[in-house]
Amino acid sequence: MGTGFSGEVAEYYAKYRRGYPSGLFDALQAEFGWTKDDAVLDLGCGTGQLGVPAAARVGAVIGLDPEPDMLRFAGEAAAAAGAGNTVWVLGSDADLPEIGAQIGTGRLATVLVGQALHWMRHEVLFPRLLPLLRPGGGVAVVAGGAPLWLQDSDWSHALRDCLEAYFGTRPGPTGGGSPHDRARYARALEAAGYRDVGEIALRHTDELTVDQLIGGLFSTFSAESLPPEPQRTELAQRIRWSLPSGKPLIQDVEVTAVLAHAPSGPR
Ligand SMILES: C[S@@+](CC[C@H](N)C(=O)[O-])C[C@H]1O[C@@H](n2cnc3c(N)ncnc32)[C@H](O)[C@@H]1O
Repeated sequence: MGTGFSGEVAEYYAKYRRGYPSGLFDALQAEFGWTKDDAVLDLGCGTGQLGVPAAARVGAVIGLDPEPDMLRFAGEAAAAAGAGNTVWVLGSDADLPEIGAQIGTGRLATVLVGQALHWMRHEVLFPRLLPLLRPGGGVAVVAGGAPLWLQDSDWSHALRDCLEAYFGTRPGPTGGGSPHDRARYARALEAAGYRDVGEIALRHTDELTVDQLIGGLFSTFSAESLPPEPQRTELAQRIRWSLPSGKPLIQDVEVTAVLAHAPSGPR
């Protein structure tokens, strides 16, 4: 298997991808009534940005991802966090019938999907997840907000221009997190029979170092599109030169989650 998240991309992801704010986990815990008796599935878990913090609030987390390199870093992040109640399983959404049979009916408090649903067939996935959810449980489709090059700030405009000059095309949005995508997912959840479909948004600002900006940018490439050396160092240098000097790199982060409940689970 291979998803474009292998090798150095996985390293950039593990090192530079920002985690989600604790307020997101507070909201998820309240929404789905997480307790230490609960199990959560983190589908497309990557390096564990959702699964590792969630593990502190539930009994067990199963992380599922088709990319072995991402899973390796997820395991390391879990060990560093002392999250011994996690398992990291190689597989994709297509494996859910088999994996679901092992998990059993009505066992999961939540299925988390963070910035990964656009690689899955969500119309097939949502109905498949329903029988796995316990009463009161549900699905959370999480997105991390506008990418680094689509922020409304001088440094982001400079980054965008630099990427356009380098690659010859204007960089667009990343998949799955736009209002249009979120509305599509919400409609598909309702069509699949979920109840109380809604959305939460959490905003905060964050100051980035130049290394975090460049590492975060490289984490968004696929393994195939990540420029090799020495072009990568050249691109990084161009970005450094193009940034407005002496100004802090303040990023506006809006984390959103589309939330939906299993019909059998009145809260
Ligand atoms: C952008 S990363 C997101 C990682 C993490 N969930 C987060 O919120 O930061 C997307 C992940 O989805 C995984 N992925 C891609 N296709 C998938 C599929 N069909 N089923 C499950 N995961 C998939 C990739 O391997 C990658 O680790």
